[in-house]
Amino acid sequence: MEKVVLAYSGGLDTSVLIPWLREKYNLDVITVTANLGTEKDLPTIREKALRTGASNAYVEDARDIFVRFFCWPALQAGALYEGIYPLGTALARPLIAKLLVDIAHRVGADAVAHGCTGKGNDQVRFDVAVAALDPSLKIIAPVRDYRMHRDEEIEYAREHDIPIPVNLESPYSIDENLWGRSVEAGILEDPWIEPPDDAYSWTRSPREAPDEPEYVEIEFDQGIPLRLNGESLDGVELVSRLNRIGGNHGVGRIDHIENRLIGIKSREIYEAPAAVILHVAHAEIEKLTLAKDQARFKQVVSSEIADLVYNGQWFSALHQDLQAYVVNSQRFVNGVVRLKLYKGSIQVASRRAEHSLYDPLLATYGQGDTFDHGAAEGFIRLFGLPLRRQAQVQWIGRSSEEILQLSAGATPGSPSAPSNADTTAPRS
Ligand code: ARG
Repeated sequence: MEKVVLAYSGGLDTSVLIPWLREKYNLDVITVTANLGTEKDLPTIREKALRTGASNAYVEDARDIFVRFFCWPALQAGALYEGIYPLGTALARPLIAKLLVDIAHRVGADAVAHGCTGKGNDQVRFDVAVAALDPSLKIIAPVRDYRMHRDEEIEYAREHDIPIPVNLESPYSIDENLWGRSVEAGILEDPWIEPPDDAYSWTRSPREAPDEPEYVEIEFDQGIPLRLNGESLDGVELVSRLNRIGGNHGVGRIDHIENRLIGIKSREIYEAPAAVILHVAHAEIEKLTLAKDQARFKQVVSSEIADLVYNGQWFSALHQDLQAYVVNSQRFVNGVVRLKLYKGSIQVASRRAEHSLYDPLLATYGQGDTFDHGAAEGFIRLFGLPLRRQAQVQWIGRSSEEILQLSAGATPGSPSAPSNADTTAPRS
């Protein structure tokens, strides 16, 4: 029997796939479940896979790798899809794909399988990432191929003795990891309906959040957060704590009408307290440490990287190239940010940076000012030079009718008739 390695979450969809792959495809099924920091009962998931017919079930602790090699680079890049989605689900897919490919190699499988539908981004991310890592592997996506419906799945699960959760799970489709929780479907498909409370599980409603604000202090080294409130923490711990602290204050809720890669608009709810807090804090250190031009160009790179990650091109040459730029841009992004969390909001209270470009003596309106005021005048003369010339020749500042008259008649004595006057000379 040939082998297939299946990405397994323990839910109904992927559980059904175990007997399905055996029966319809005649394959020996090996499952892989990645621990990305939010899965509670991994031994039970493993047991369930074996009981459902998997010949082997791998559970991989990928938390540290996820944070260090996927979340941190995305944070350094400032990668927010459509300016708002921190990409929790999108970042996890290439890592899961890597685990699938590694285990396929280990057990000698020549195919991998996943339970994605044909309407989402996740199928693209898995397929494209697997292809990039090993183009010779076959990819099987039975949910996409057979377009199985919930009722059929339940029927099939009954026939195969697969335990069906009593309350048939939540009314939503949910994906979770340390970088965020993605919630879609059900009543959320109506964009006019405000998300009901049960759509959220990591964050309190701001109304129920504490009446006292809480400050968090985050320290960055080359764009990577190393300390929280003065305490050195590894990435997994730092992100977990910020998820709890932020969630408690109702921080990190996102309601987004999103453009999927496959052309559909969808309504997405996210809860990502740690990711949102860290993006705010990181951007703040960059404000102190990046020059204006670097900051402006970084926006272009950020949005390119966000699109690329969203679109499943994590393992691409362009991503490697852009990320190299990002890493280089972070060499002075060191410093501390103090944020105030209060009833769903995040406010920057203070910030400092070792290599800050902010110079109080240049900025001050008070004593000790070192700014060269005389230089301002000359600067403005040159800065305004092209405008002054254009105003002389093209009557900028006049209405279109006036311009028509002026250019037809070129009335003598009109204040700004074209001339060859020395436009650099100061005018009195
Ligand atoms: N729209 C988000 C994305 O494409 C979240 C997808 C959530 N996936 C899920 N199976 N619920 O990244």
